[in-house]
Amino acid sequence: MTDACRVGVCRLAASHQSTIGNRQSQSVLFKFVVFGIFIIYLLLVAIVLLRYLKPARWIKAKVIEPPQRRPATEKEVLIDVVDVDKSFDHPVIVGLNLQIYRGETLGVLGRSGTGKSVLLKLLVGLLRPDRGRILLEGKDITRMTEAELLEVRKEVSYVFQGGAIFDFLNVGENIAYPLREQGWTDEEQIRQRVEYLLDAVELEGWGSAAYTELSVGAKKQVAIARAIANNPEAILYDEPTTGVDPIIGKSLSRLIRKLNKREHLTSIVVTHDLRCIDIVADRILMLKSGLIRFQGTKEEFHASEDPFIQAFIAGKRYEEEEPEAERLAG
Ligand SMILES: Nc1ncnc2c1ncn2[C@@H]1O[C@H](COP(=O)(O)OP(=O)(O)OP(=O)(O)O)[C@@H](O)[C@H]1O
Ligand SMILES: [Mg+2]
Repeated sequence: MTDACRVGVCRLAASHQSTIGNRQSQSVLFKFVVFGIFIIYLLLVAIVLLRYLKPARWIKAKVIEPPQRRPATEKEVLIDVVDVDKSFDHPVIVGLNLQIYRGETLGVLGRSGTGKSVLLKLLVGLLRPDRGRILLEGKDITRMTEAELLEVRKEVSYVFQGGAIFDFLNVGENIAYPLREQGWTDEEQIRQRVEYLLDAVELEGWGSAAYTELSVGAKKQVAIARAIANNPEAILYDEPTTGVDPIIGKSLSRLIRKLNKREHLTSIVVTHDLRCIDIVADRILMLKSGLIRFQGTKEEFHASEDPFIQAFIAGKRYEEEEPEAERLAG
């Protein structure tokens, strides 16, 4: 073999080697890409499984998140009160017509004894009207059985004037009570939900405190947490700021406003407290001697020329009050 031939053979061998090297590196790259695609595919499958098959982790997340509700629309009636009368030994509610819209907070004002608590009790079926209908999402609750009304009270929660909390249970157990009543049995889920609710009413870390140790304001916060425990559609607050000083009253009002917006609640707040109304309400209803004396925005209320409303705002007694009450009673 000549020298030229040897060089040629060597070059050929070298070029063959480099082709083999190139092919090997291409094959490694190809495997790498296929592996990458496989990993991405696995990730996508995992995401789909987590999202749609709702494993335990997903359910737990729902326990502690605010409910997903339809956003409030301006004029979607949730509760419709039609021509309602209620008397005891005298007329308390007379021919009441009222619409409560989904997502709004209606502030209800009126002097003591004008039927504000009676109105709330009618709305959850704790009292039955003498006449008229009360429609919740189109269903007449005045004709419902007690069993059906229990279902209504899951949708429309009531924070009683006195709180109605159990003294013998600690704060956490008081809040867990409606969950257990609804059939929750998983202790871990109950614990998480109670923690979420304590946080929602700004009582983080108070779960194991004795209820009797709490201040009046904190007791009201517990009552609110308990009322929203089962994600009701609507919540009725009866005098949420009565019995607390103005500063606590203001912070309770702010809490109610925050919760109503965050949990997308429809709510009615009955109160004498004008500062509370100014913070929480979208709309004001004023009752007087069983009748609606005013219905409108806060601005319209404050600008009203009605002497009764002006006297109420000024904290004074209105002279015509007695004759009108007597007229209705008579
Ligand atoms: N179960 C009942 N039996 C008899 N009378 C009742 C009953 N519930 C309420 N009343 C009467 O109905 C009227 C209105 O009571 P209600 O409790 O609704 O007043 P209110 O506007 O909530 O007053 P306050 O601001 O003092 O809470 C009052 O005269 C009250 O005595
Ligand atoms: Mg009352």
